[in-house]
Amino acid sequence: DWNMPDYVAEAVARIREQVGSDEVILGLSGGVDSSVAAALIHKAIGDQLTCVFVDHGLLRLNEARQVMDVMSRNLGVRVIHIDAGEQFLGKLAGVADPEAKRKIIGREFVEVFQVEAGKLKSARWLAQGTIYPDVIESAASKTGKAVAIKSHHNVGGLPETLNLKLLEPLRDLFKDEVRHLGLALGLPPEMVFRHPFPGPGLGVRILGEVKREYADLLRRADDIFITELRNTIDPETGKSWYELTSQAFTVFLPVKSVGVMGDGRTYDYVVALRAVQTTDFMTADWAELPYSLLKKVSSRIINEVRGINRVTYDVSSKPPATIEWE
Ligand code: XMP
Repeated sequence: DWNMPDYVAEAVARIREQVGSDEVILGLSGGVDSSVAAALIHKAIGDQLTCVFVDHGLLRLNEARQVMDVMSRNLGVRVIHIDAGEQFLGKLAGVADPEAKRKIIGREFVEVFQVEAGKLKSARWLAQGTIYPDVIESAASKTGKAVAIKSHHNVGGLPETLNLKLLEPLRDLFKDEVRHLGLALGLPPEMVFRHPFPGPGLGVRILGEVKREYADLLRRADDIFITELRNTIDPETGKSWYELTSQAFTVFLPVKSVGVMGDGRTYDYVVALRAVQTTDFMTADWAELPYSLLKKVSSRIINEVRGINRVTYDVSSKPPATIEWE
């Protein structure tokens, strides 16, 4: 039970003492942890902090703009926005295997970040939004996806190659403490209470080969789903279905099915809606969303996103299914 203003003041003092007049760089992903870390460090040392936001072109609709609006325009954080979408799509061309896609995205991410960081010659510190559960998880040294999560999120290997010292001001905090800190630092609740979003982004929500056309369709369908989840309030709890689910998203299935539209026959793509409830993301139940909500989302996607003519709902729990489809 801690007092937030005191905590912020102490954390700010600690950062100032640690870095002195040195310059710091931070890889901003748009996620909660790196955003809160950036806001906190910026409060402590202002323009001694430069954030690098590598946009891999696999973010959700308007996500890059939101990150820039909140961090750069509202909070005044210095952010370099690298629009690397073309580069990432180029590297992903022809690659269908999920782990191969993860590796490419992770490697490319590190490379782009490294090039930008290398330009900031006076930087002495690399800041990261590592939180306490990450510290434990790294120590436990897991395999498979967990490794991919680490290597992507924490931009592994960078401190050694860039000769930077590590600054990790959230290392002692649990997720809910990070969220409270974010609110205290002026980050908007929509950002602070966002569902987790995987580092490889839509790259693992487009099954098989990633194509720009697929990403564009998926972004629009997913935006409809998320908007309706946010706007639909459950009368019993007074909460939105976005708040009542732990993670929700749309998956692009690169298969075509037949439909009718007006007088014509369509032959278009399929999407799957996924919404789960979980506390630890190790196990998860599919969410029993109201039929009226599913109906509205389905009808909006099919009517508004030309190129998608069928919407399905994923009723698989974890285990044996995973939360993501790849
Ligand atoms: P799964 O699909 O394994 O997902 O049930 C569990 C949680 O991990 C997230 N996830 C990832 N996060 N990079 C990330 O940063 C990844 O490669 C990755 N794969 C899965 C997933 O979104 C869910 O929250």
